[in-house]
Amino acid sequence: MSNRLTRKQFLTRSAQYAAGVAVGGAGLDLLFRENGAAKSAVTTWPWPYQEIDPEKVRILGHDSYYGTPGGCCYGAFNSIMQALRDTVGDPFTTLPSELMYFGAGGAAGWGTLCGAINGSGAAISLVSTKANTSTLVGELLGWYTQTEFPTDTSNQYAQESKYTVNKVTSALPQNMSGSPLCHISVSEWCKTSDMTSGSAERLDRCARLTGDVAAYAVKILNDMAKGSFSPLYVAPSSIADCKACHATGAMATVVSNMECTQCHGDPHVQQSVSATEGVAAGYTLTQNYPNPFNPTTQIRFSVPSREIVTLSIYDVHGRLVKRIVDHAAYSPGNYLANWDGTNGAGQRVASGTYFARITAGAYQKAVRMSLVK
Ligand code: HEC
Ligand code: HEC
Repeated sequence: MSNRLTRKQFLTRSAQYAAGVAVGGAGLDLLFRENGAAKSAVTTWPWPYQEIDPEKVRILGHDSYYGTPGGCCYGAFNSIMQALRDTVGDPFTTLPSELMYFGAGGAAGWGTLCGAINGSGAAISLVSTKANTSTLVGELLGWYTQTEFPTDTSNQYAQESKYTVNKVTSALPQNMSGSPLCHISVSEWCKTSDMTSGSAERLDRCARLTGDVAAYAVKILNDMAKGSFSPLYVAPSSIADCKACHATGAMATVVSNMECTQCHGDPHVQQSVSATEGVAAGYTLTQNYPNPFNPTTQIRFSVPSREIVTLSIYDVHGRLVKRIVDHAAYSPGNYLANWDGTNGAGQRVASGTYFARITAGAYQKAVRMSLVK
């Protein structure tokens, strides 16, 4: 027969196509299973999980990285799906792993979330309840930030040519990036290894990492299924410290569990201020010493509770000359600040009268100082 469709065939296929679009990956076979009538479209979530072998997934993940379309996100997702297709079968046979291709290189090469985490996270989400998804994906992210990649295991597999695709068979340099971001993970590795991002070694580093991350996702899924899940990741206290202000109450503007200081440093630490001995009796700002002075002088202040402190120098006209402390968090104690007679641009200011002014919570005070050259 010709390739032309009859009008009836056309109408039937169009209707099936429209239904197929509506159900996404679940497929037409699921739709028309009972009595040929359209049933509830999408297979009930979560999909049925059965324990699978993490070492098999580690190898599949590495090899899928080089598959079609390939990449870290597809590779991680496909390795878990392939193992579940083999073990459980339907409905895992109905879902194309290619849907995760977008995540390669931290999403189309943008270097955001590591694709291996993204792909593994999607697989976790497919087979876990809402609460377990957050727990397991959180663990996967945290573990990733504190793990050296490629792991010893995947380096060993490469040396023993245990993979199907064996492009690089030496042990590769390892790095722990402290971040779930593709950009930081890859760039730090290139710095550590002194190799470029386009090198065969870097590609195989990410292929091994893909297997490593998918294998760990499977390990924790297995543990959850057995009821023996216990997380390895303990968040550094620095994150909670920053979030105590920036993700809490009226100041809450930050949504992140990433290590804040990796990008921000601690913007509240000021090098020109040091802590001194003793317990703070109350809020104080004491007269500068020496005074008159040239060119530097010391200004002491105390806070009896944890406060955000600003200490600024003004001229007699009330114009800001310099911020010595800018919205910095200080624990209870006594502090010594130095002013070197320069303005915010680092230039020496003229002789004259200046004021040092502190705000610490609701406390405010100013002292008058004389610079005499
Ligand atoms: C005791 C509360 C407190 C803590 C703890 C705290 N901050 Fe802040 N932070 C502030 C306040 C208040 C501001 C000023 C907000 C404003 O000006 O709108 C600020 C400002 C900032 C800013 C904005 C701009 C800047 O550079 O001044 C950044 C970034 C920041 N904090 C990051 C951090 C990080 C990272 C940590 C942990 C290492 C941290 N903060 C801990 C209260 C805190
Ligand atoms: C991957 C890098 C990165 C990490 C990790 C990160 N930040 Fe940021 N953050 C930025 C960038 C970039 C901006 C936007 C530029 C800016 O304002 O400094 C920003 C903005 C902010 C701001 C607003 C700054 C302002 O001037 O008002 C605050 C506050 C802040 N981050 C706090 C945090 C805290 C707290 C954490 C940890 C929970 C954190 N950040 C983790 C990169 C990061």
